[in-house]
Amino acid sequence: MSSPTASAPSATSGRLADEAARRRTFAVISHPDAGKSTLTEALALHAKVISEAGAIHGKAGRKSTVSDWMEMEKARGISVSSTALQFEYGDCVINLVDTPGHSDFSEDTYRVLTAVDAAVMLIDAAKGLEPQTLKLFQVARDRGIPVITVINKWDRPGQAPLELLDEIVDRIGLTPTPLFLPVGIAGDFRGLLRRGEEGAATEYIHFTRTAGGATIAPEEHYTPEQAAEREGDAWTNAAEESELLSAAGQDHDQELFLAGHTSPVIYASAMLNFGVRQILETLVELAPPPRSRKDVNGNERETTAPFSAVIFKVQAGMDTAHRDRLAFMRIVSGEFERGMVVTHAQTGRPFATKYALTVFGRERTTVDTAYPGDVVGLVNATALAPGHTLFVDKKVEFPPIPSFAPEHFATLRAKTADKYKQFRKAMDQLDSEGVVQVLRNDARGDASPVLAAVGPMQFEVVTARMQSEFNVETQLDFLPFQLARRTDAESAEELSRQRGVEVFTRTDGAILALFSDKWRLQYIVKEMPKLTLELLVAGT
Ligand code: G4P
Repeated sequence: MSSPTASAPSATSGRLADEAARRRTFAVISHPDAGKSTLTEALALHAKVISEAGAIHGKAGRKSTVSDWMEMEKARGISVSSTALQFEYGDCVINLVDTPGHSDFSEDTYRVLTAVDAAVMLIDAAKGLEPQTLKLFQVARDRGIPVITVINKWDRPGQAPLELLDEIVDRIGLTPTPLFLPVGIAGDFRGLLRRGEEGAATEYIHFTRTAGGATIAPEEHYTPEQAAEREGDAWTNAAEESELLSAAGQDHDQELFLAGHTSPVIYASAMLNFGVRQILETLVELAPPPRSRKDVNGNERETTAPFSAVIFKVQAGMDTAHRDRLAFMRIVSGEFERGMVVTHAQTGRPFATKYALTVFGRERTTVDTAYPGDVVGLVNATALAPGHTLFVDKKVEFPPIPSFAPEHFATLRAKTADKYKQFRKAMDQLDSEGVVQVLRNDARGDASPVLAAVGPMQFEVVTARMQSEFNVETQLDFLPFQLARRTDAESAEELSRQRGVEVFTRTDGAILALFSDKWRLQYIVKEMPKLTLELLVAGT
């Protein structure tokens, strides 16, 4: 039997467990224009990180303050970088991991979802579920991440509240369980009804607009009786809807939520700051804290184990003046202290963490200490790539991040032959960072590899960086392929003989068959059912 001192948790592991337990790490998944930037602002405003909405991404400042790491971003007024905003709220530390804010999809958008414990699915009340939301939701579901739904822009005319919920059930099979229902139809948003046990209204939260939604909207709280008197039919309708939902079994159940079967719903207006405090409250009360993670051997790495982290994103050239390269890690276990020497699992080499930062927009803050769930950027981490593990003490390695299904394909070559050497070097570098997937086959050779991307923006990043960092002018030519499937060496031979199909090997060794369109693929599946053709992650 072990002695009581040996089995009792040490003071350090007790503190670590407490720090982990108060973390909430999440990302917002949404279609462009649903209001992600506005909501981020509003959350920061509520957490008092900023004093007035508009300071980070907001209207006046959006184009100039977010991030201007590349000319391309400036030209388009977009942010390609994915960063994290950390703030304290109540007793919790909230990490909002930002997904790239442009309309093109990229692998980075997906990778962020490997670094979070929960997702907020932001839906435009008038538009309902849109394509990018659906794709991201699928990834969240595949990764077992619980989803909180926020129906935004309720201050604008839109659909009926329950209609939107039906759409969620019908299209993605997730059962929405509203925690709050709107009082007032879309376009006449007065406040929120808080739903209690069996759908009974427990209180009415009335919001007052502030000028331009720049400051927190004052709240008044009323009992259901007072609410009925004050709001009349608007309240009665909301109370009835709440009962209807309960009759249909749409009440919050924490276990079902964590298992990804149900999703708590909040109606909000990010612009007016209505419902924003309720979103934070929900994150604090219901979103899961960091949990243990399985390593490559299937062992669970507890949050209280010695330090370990996974790199989920590498960003180069964010600051052209410094030519730096930042690797973002999500801490899985233990305490991180700046300056500690960790081991890079993939190479076995030590890595000094002297320069550790958090990055949000243009803000860069040095991080001295961090805990499970936190996101830290490491400067000049040239060997680190997405999916890599860092650790101290005994070796641990986490499974690689899956490569997502590419849907855009192009060949790339150096415009002049004398740059071939630099071109190859640059290609290897960008490939290892996971900027784009690189496919090769004997027929095409190494001078013009095929680039495969989830979103065409990835190609722009490649060509821009080839030019600015490696001084290589390149020529990009799109290829007429629309989808990819994973196959094996045996099937590859047969597939190479088919029209409209070309077979490649990806750098990670996967054999991919590219198809000109879905009809070609369907035809081949039908005619040659024995061939191996597997769907890639998040593939269509
Ligand atoms: P995104 O990051 O998801 O792409 O969306 P973003 O926050 O930029 O919002 C897209 C547009 O929707 C913006 O309007 C924004 O003001 C508006 N919006 C966001 N939340 C709400 C809301 O709760 N209610 C209403 N009515 N509008 C909302 P814009 O016209 O494109 O730009 P702006 O000039 O208003 O900034």
